[in-house]
Amino acid sequence: MKKLIIAAMAIAIAAPLAAVQASPKSDLENMRSLMFKKFPGVKLAEYGNGVYAIDKVRYDEWKSMEDDFPPYEPGLETGEKLFKKYNVGKCFPKGGIGIKQDYPKFNAKSGEVETLEGELMKCLKKNGVDLKAEKLSFKKGKFAAIAAWMAYKSRGNKINVVVPNDPRAMAIYNKGREFFYAKRGQLNFSCADCHVHNPGAMLRTMKLSPVIGQTSHFPAYRKKWQGGGGNPELAGFGTLQRRYGGCNKMVRAQPLKFKGGQHPTYVALEYFHTHLSNGVPINAPGTRQ
Ligand code: HEC
Repeated sequence: MKKLIIAAMAIAIAAPLAAVQASPKSDLENMRSLMFKKFPGVKLAEYGNGVYAIDKVRYDEWKSMEDDFPPYEPGLETGEKLFKKYNVGKCFPKGGIGIKQDYPKFNAKSGEVETLEGELMKCLKKNGVDLKAEKLSFKKGKFAAIAAWMAYKSRGNKINVVVPNDPRAMAIYNKGREFFYAKRGQLNFSCADCHVHNPGAMLRTMKLSPVIGQTSHFPAYRKKWQGGGGNPELAGFGTLQRRYGGCNKMVRAQPLKFKGGQHPTYVALEYFHTHLSNGVPINAPGTRQ
């Protein structure tokens, strides 16, 4: 605990880069130039490797594990089977194959932003799947395995989140942006304090990853989640919004909960946050600690 507080103080000194109203285009340009300055030599595509993009020693260890024994493989097979069993393909463009890079996506008819997982849940309901009996719920387990398989089928496609010049889309984008830069929790940290101002710094034994590329490998497969109960092959999977909850807890803030769905603020955050990874190839599911 003591160590965390010391790290917290060191991080809090960093000047906040926030507030000024900006456009999605300039947000993206500014973030890229900031990160490229911090990590010269790391190419845009490599940011999808998260913290391993900026740490050679950890990279080598992680890469050989990903290449030799990807621990998510059995779970992905289950994800594929369930995708077929529940007829998920018929709810999505292109039969649900190779589309992850376009999400979150603004729907001009409804005025809402749709995440892939949000649409997947709508699809399961529409297809009459008994969610309770099948033990399907947002964020983890079988549900996340289906989403992970869909993301896996989009590997190599570059993230391409579009924020159109529509006040409804901009309002959601700005809501996500605000959440990203707002201080919260007992430690009074914003997402940006850790992932924009201090990537590369240590927090206990963890090295902080840069914000660019953070979304490319989600749903991810984590050692930490694997032990969380249930079938470990599936328990290791978690969606991006599951990870948001973890990062909120890290600063002693309550993760946002929304009965029966995704919290609109996390949807907005996902929209803003994923847009910052535009141009990074999808490489989900990524294995993480
Ligand atoms: C106190 C510092 C801290 C804050 C604040 C914080 N995070 Fe994190 N975050 C971490 C650490 C530590 C990790 C694990 C190491 C890593 O990949 O950065 C992590 C991991 C992540 C990951 C997974 C990265 C990967 O490669 O798998 C995402 C996504 C993420 N954070 C998003 C956020 C968002 C969004 C917020 C704001 C709601 C936030 N974080 C706030 C410390 C923080």
